Amino acid sequence: MLDSLGNLRRTHYCGDLRAAHADADVVLMGWVHRRRDLGNLIFIDLRDRAGIAQVVFNKEQHAAAHAKAEELRAEYVVAVEGRVVHRQKANPEIATGEVEVVAMRLHILNTAKTPPFVIEDEVLASEETRLRYRYLDLRRPKPRANIALRHRVIFEMRKALDALGFYEIETPMLTRSTPEGARDYLVPSRIHHGQFYALPQSPQIFKQILMIAGMDRYFQIVRCFRDEDFRADRQAEFTQLDLEMSFPRQDDIFGVIEQVMARACAVIGVEVKLPFPRMTHAQALARYGGDKPDLRFGMELQDVSGFFTQAARETLHIEGSVQALAVPGVATFSRKQLDELAERAKSFGARGLYAVKVAAEGISSPLEKTLGAETLKKLVASAGAKPGELVVAVAAKEQVKGSDAAALVAGQLRLHLAEQLKLIPKDRWEFVWLTGFPLFEWSETENRLVSAQHPFTGIVEEDVEKLEDPSDDVRATIRSKGYDLVLNGVELGSGSIRIHRQDVQARVFRALGLTDEQARQRFGFFLDALAYGTPPHGGIALGLDRVVALLAGEKSIREVIAFSKTTAAQDLMADTPSPVDADQLDELGIALKPPERR
Ligand code: AMO
Repeated sequence: MLDSLGNLRRTHYCGDLRAAHADADVVLMGWVHRRRDLGNLIFIDLRDRAGIAQVVFNKEQHAAAHAKAEELRAEYVVAVEGRVVHRQKANPEIATGEVEVVAMRLHILNTAKTPPFVIEDEVLASEETRLRYRYLDLRRPKPRANIALRHRVIFEMRKALDALGFYEIETPMLTRSTPEGARDYLVPSRIHHGQFYALPQSPQIFKQILMIAGMDRYFQIVRCFRDEDFRADRQAEFTQLDLEMSFPRQDDIFGVIEQVMARACAVIGVEVKLPFPRMTHAQALARYGGDKPDLRFGMELQDVSGFFTQAARETLHIEGSVQALAVPGVATFSRKQLDELAERAKSFGARGLYAVKVAAEGISSPLEKTLGAETLKKLVASAGAKPGELVVAVAAKEQVKGSDAAALVAGQLRLHLAEQLKLIPKDRWEFVWLTGFPLFEWSETENRLVSAQHPFTGIVEEDVEKLEDPSDDVRATIRSKGYDLVLNGVELGSGSIRIHRQDVQARVFRALGLTDEQARQRFGFFLDALAYGTPPHGGIALGLDRVVALLAGEKSIREVIAFSKTTAAQDLMADTPSPVDADQLDELGIALKPPERR
């Protein structure tokens, strides 16, 4: 027989009890975490959202409660009326360890099946099992703390933005496609047969229209949907902190985000230095070999192309630039380790890896034969290598249009080595703004220029005229007013000062290969709106899941999303996606093609 909650009222969270509560009469409610039966004494660890309290049932003092406690199993839901007392022997491992609750009455509110894994942080269960039973997984301390942290971070962000005069405004979920580089999730309309809504990839167009509408400062904690390939840092549905401002300079937007991030970091007690440093996209590529530089450690790239004569290039079959890294502490790398490193470099797209050992006694490298001892010495000096370090130089196997391919390879190698050699300090928070992005980038798959961010990104004034230039090479040099925010090598967010002139927006659509009819069909409402007095405006969106994952010290954003999806975009708990009834499809006028005809 289960007890009912009746008039019972909880007085405290289990995890909040401290020595100061001694002698207080309390009512606790929660889940049986563990039970230890010592005969006359039964101990249970009672768990709720705040933590764990030890409850003791004493047969001699409270026989009825003790008898009932014999029925308890893991994850039963109970209410305990009792008195807080000092423990004879404190447990320093847990926050409530100085006290325990002597139970006077026990109410069993619900039973529980034996869970498929123990509710501890060190679970051995697979991620699949954890996601399938996410409600049990969320009872574990770390996931629970992640959800609490997420709440606090969002709350602080809202407070910061409210104080800065932003309105939180919702935009539609059933809408039309906004290009952010992924496929849309489509929702069929029942009433308008053959027509579809798209779930938003971002509220981009709507937030710009809110600026046209005079809202001046908008933000939203908003769900976005993208049908793309998923990795640890990507989900089919994810959350952005999205914002937009009218009449902003780039610095105004940076200032707002710096405030917001400073408050978010303060939640975990981290004080960040403002303003965040800035770097151009070109500098990031040249110094760190990528557009998401991790500034927690050095090992900057050095362009050592100048040391390779034409003859040396031919001998080594090198095209493009040669990039070097000075790696601390590994001049002792064995032949085998160097071979492994070379293999790794090849997997990143390197033509080969040229290692130079720098020891106190001298420099040694297979490169010596081709370059000569003197040149090699100069190369080492230019790479800034000290004795005990290893210089690795790489050239790329294939050249990438519009990029320094060797730098991209060296950038990956830099990260790989830093991780392998544990050179990345854990408790550093290195934000950096990246600016100076090109408007377009070359798409190998489409074999044409595409928007580097999205087609609404503003253009540096002097470059607008290049939009109509017939040469891809010229159009590839158009500079955008876009920017990214990077933290510890992770892209947190991206934004821009926007195009606010209708004619320029129409020209960008044309430059992207859309005919005027196609542009009208897809974005006609937006082009119309732009003609009615659009203020200069700009904004940004941060990936909220990524922000929280970094603050929580989690590698995957799945760990900070209450109900996340697998890399195959499935919700294992709710078992979605799932087939629907034939009736439902009929009503929508949808017939499924057999798989072989897709
Ligand atoms: P962007 O597409 O760069 O810009 O997205 C902004 C930020 O959102 C996060 N993000 C994701 N997080 C998890 N899963 C995903 N699939 C995913 N995709 C993106 C990233 C990214 O930096 N409308 C523009 C913003 C603007 O111009 O204001 C936009 O959406 O952290």
